[in-house]
Amino acid sequence: MIRRKIIAANWKMNEDYDQGIKLFSTVINLMDDEITGDQQVIVCPPFIHLHSLAELSKNHLQISIGAQNAHQAESGAYTGEISARMIRSTGAEYVILGHSERRLYFNETNELIAKKIDTALLNTLNIICCVGESKKEREAGQQFEVLKKQLTEGLFHLDEMQFAHLTIAYEPIWAIGTGVTATAAQAQEIHQFIRQQINTRYNEQIADNIILLYGGSCNPKNAVELFYQKDIDGGLIGGASLKARDFVDIIKVCN
Ligand code: PGA
Repeated sequence: MIRRKIIAANWKMNEDYDQGIKLFSTVINLMDDEITGDQQVIVCPPFIHLHSLAELSKNHLQISIGAQNAHQAESGAYTGEISARMIRSTGAEYVILGHSERRLYFNETNELIAKKIDTALLNTLNIICCVGESKKEREAGQQFEVLKKQLTEGLFHLDEMQFAHLTIAYEPIWAIGTGVTATAAQAQEIHQFIRQQINTRYNEQIADNIILLYGGSCNPKNAVELFYQKDIDGGLIGGASLKARDFVDIIKVCN
């Protein structure tokens, strides 16, 4: 099974409007010059950039745009929130759900994430769902248990057709923004475990087809070893995606 590589950028709460346009335009220009493979690139900026970036990427089939969060309700009196339908109407095609920063700072539970996934799917968004254990959980040897629970409660209610719209990112919380990356062997072990869980819940074909990303202090150097692991199909990049040169160098690993 040859799965297409995906490199996704998570800008988090960075870049004002002008800075965002400049960063994205630089990424596009560098990609035009340097990218020769068929890897897919998904850029997930703050909401304010979605429409402009979707417009700028129109003639660049390799690039898609995604949001970093969406509300679980279709619409209504939720001051300050953004719905999946609104996101889709900007031209964005993806949404990141279940990021550990949302689980931690906004109390998002597996149950809430499951609802958000359902609403996003109803609005024809593809989903990058993040899972991963904390430092404490890893030190206690609980990583497999934690991941199994996140998968079971957050994702495994989906039917086979719905599950096909999912990409899963394994992001160990201890590696996010810390400069400490999981070793390629640690990451591969978890990716293999996730694929096995999917095989058990669904079937071998679905487990073989699903794209599994690694995230957590990924950079142009460590990406080479990580992305060549059997079960790792690319990365979700935070800090390094804010530097056009570094981000395109990470994309280039998959040329
Ligand atoms: P990082 O973030 O690359 O800065 O560690 C990854 C993420 O949180 O998606």
